[in-house]
Amino acid sequence: MKRVCHIGRALLLSGAVCLLSPSLLGQGRETGCTAAGCHDALMQHAFQHEAAEDCESCHEAGDGDHPASAGREFELSGEVPGLCYDCHDEYNSGKSVHSPVEDGDCLACHDPHSAAHPKLTIEPMAALCFSCHDDIEEAIGTARTVHAAVTAGRRCLSCHSPHNAAQRALLKFPDGELCLDCHDGSAKPGGEVAADIKSKVKNRKFIHDPAAEGDCLSCHPPHYSSKAGLLTEAFPAGLYAEGAVDSYALCFDCHDSDLFDAENTREATAFRDDRQNLHYVHLKREKSRSCIHCHDLHGSDQPHLLLESSTFGQWKMPLNFRVAKNGGSCRPGCHEAKTYSR
Ligand code: HEC
Ligand code: HEC
Ligand code: HEC
Ligand code: HEC
Ligand code: HEC
Ligand code: HEC
Ligand code: HEC
Ligand code: HEC
Ligand code: HEC
Repeated sequence: MKRVCHIGRALLLSGAVCLLSPSLLGQGRETGCTAAGCHDALMQHAFQHEAAEDCESCHEAGDGDHPASAGREFELSGEVPGLCYDCHDEYNSGKSVHSPVEDGDCLACHDPHSAAHPKLTIEPMAALCFSCHDDIEEAIGTARTVHAAVTAGRRCLSCHSPHNAAQRALLKFPDGELCLDCHDGSAKPGGEVAADIKSKVKNRKFIHDPAAEGDCLSCHPPHYSSKAGLLTEAFPAGLYAEGAVDSYALCFDCHDSDLFDAENTREATAFRDDRQNLHYVHLKREKSRSCIHCHDLHGSDQPHLLLESSTFGQWKMPLNFRVAKNGGSCRPGCHEAKTYSR
């Protein structure tokens, strides 16, 4: 039952104590409810819920004089989240539904009246997420490498939906597309440019298997890492490293470390001259030549993911690798032309 307002706006503005009939709520901001001294604090923030123009879209005027009576005369007309879903689409579908959304706890993130942050969120991004995911906040604070996508731009919302998603883990895109959405070398709205990996894993003749399968996460964690680079396991940060299997743990998660460790072999690698393992020659030494002297870890137009040219200080040094029958040859800047044959 709605009653007609019997206290004029002028009276309220003149500073009278707020003695309103419930029906004033029906007129929301325009009239008494949010006038100074009453519920003005609710609507004080920059971002206001459009629905809050009409308080009675959520609060039901009951019996009793407001505010003289015990204060139960404006109970919610429904329970959250049903109340919200009266006007908004339901978020309970999809491959993943965020646990607080599943629990109907919209108010864990939103203020139903007004908020200082866009989309009525009670905290800015990413503090909102860290209010529950404090383990991630802590880890980011101490990690050796933090992904720029987590600290810049839309932050968590670049990759996650806050409510639900057609993908696992609230991800906005399937695994193979998520990373390439940014890593295409083009400038983003925030001005940041993410290295172009897309052309390598889409357009090269030879693509590293896990990258071709869109499994970037087998080598890169999405948020942060305790390793150099945003990597799941150890891999040298620069061009050189100590010549130990541990320096290249990332690669030997999947590849047999004998390709590196066996001095003489007929099986462990095709990069050998007769039995002499040429991976061993380049890698098993005090100043070990990292894999990226010769291989592109994402994709290449050369067989075996070999590079056209290696970086040597400022110099782009061509490798001039050629496949030959039972072997190959190269003529890089660092030594004369060499041929190997199995
Ligand atoms: C979109 C729905 C919605 C609208 C519209 C709405 N409210 Fe609310 N209101 C709520 C919900 C939900 C709560 C419970 C908040 C909680 O439990 O934290 C609430 C709580 C309140 C409270 C209790 C104090 C508080 O902060 O928890 C007051 C007072 C109130 N609303 C007044 C108003 C007034 C005045 C208006 C119109 C200007 C209004 N509301 C419009 C949903 C709404
Ligand atoms: C009476 C209808 C109604 C109810 C009930 C309602 N909303 Fe809304 N809400 C709207 C309208 C209208 C808009 C503005 C148009 C839009 O963004 O859809 C809006 C916008 C929003 C926005 C986006 C604000 C922005 O700045 O873009 C959020 C967040 C939101 N509502 C949350 C809630 C929550 C949480 C509840 C339940 C507590 C709720 N709404 C209940 C009508 C409603
Ligand atoms: C974990 C925090 C969180 C919870 C819980 C949550 N939201 Fe949101 N909601 C957000 C964020 C963050 C945005 C802004 C999304 C964006 O800008 O892309 C948002 C946006 C919205 C919008 C604007 C339209 C849109 O989809 O962007 C509406 C409406 C909304 N939420 C309603 C709800 C309702 C209803 C519930 C409860 C069922 C709810 N939210 C629960 C964080 C949350
Ligand atoms: C009110 C507490 C709360 C807030 C706020 C919150 N989360 Fe969550 N979130 C949870 C809970 C609980 C789970 C389920 C348990 C877990 O995985 O930690 C979860 C799980 C997740 C998952 C994994 C979902 C899955 O299906 O594997 C992601 C991703 C996530 N949250 C992202 C976010 C982002 C992004 C924000 C900020 C927009 C956010 N969360 C804010 C409580 C919260
Ligand atoms: C670059 C994209 C990206 C950004 C930005 C991002 N995430 Fe994630 N997040 C992922 C991916 C991918 C997964 C799935 C990880 C997996 O399967 O191992 C994930 C998983 C999660 C999970 C599930 C459990 C876990 O810890 O792995 C939570 C919670 C989560 N993210 C929260 C957040 C929060 C909070 C932020 C912002 C501070 C954020 N994410 C930013 C891509 C991202
Ligand atoms: C929202 C845009 C965005 C998304 C989505 C994104 N990135 Fe990034 N990423 C960046 C930016 C910006 C940088 C910093 C510039 C650079 O190094 O390219 C970066 C840097 C990186 C780096 C280099 C980190 C370092 O410190 O050496 C790696 C590796 C990386 N991203 C992998 C990924 C993976 C894997 C995914 C998918 C899970 C992904 N990115 C998704 C924006 C993004
Ligand atoms: C087999 C492991 C592996 C896979 C799979 C992989 N990467 Fe990498 N990525 C690396 C290593 C190691 C580096 C650091 C050395 C380098 O720069 O080549 C790197 C570097 C990067 C960088 C920084 C490059 C720069 O120039 O700043 C980005 C961005 C990146 N990867 C994105 C991706 C994306 C996106 C995918 C999935 C399509 C992916 N990676 C798949 C191992 C991998
Ligand atoms: C997640 C598993 C995985 C990781 C980690 C991984 N690789 Fe691979 N790699 C593969 C698979 C699968 C193939 C294709 C089958 C094969 O040749 O063994 C491949 C192929 C290659 C090839 C091409 C072989 C050829 O003859 O065409 C090179 C070179 C290579 N990887 C180098 C590396 C380096 C260097 C690292 C470490 C940065 C690494 N891989 C890490 C799975 C992985
Ligand atoms: C000096 C250049 C060079 C370096 C450094 C190098 N590789 Fe290679 N790698 C090659 C060449 C050349 C081949 C192709 C051999 C053939 O098939 O003729 C190859 C082949 C491979 C293959 C295919 C299987 C095999 O062994 O024949 C893998 C896997 C591989 N390399 C991994 C690595 C890893 C991991 C590292 C770093 C730990 C690394 N490479 C460092 C030159 C190099």
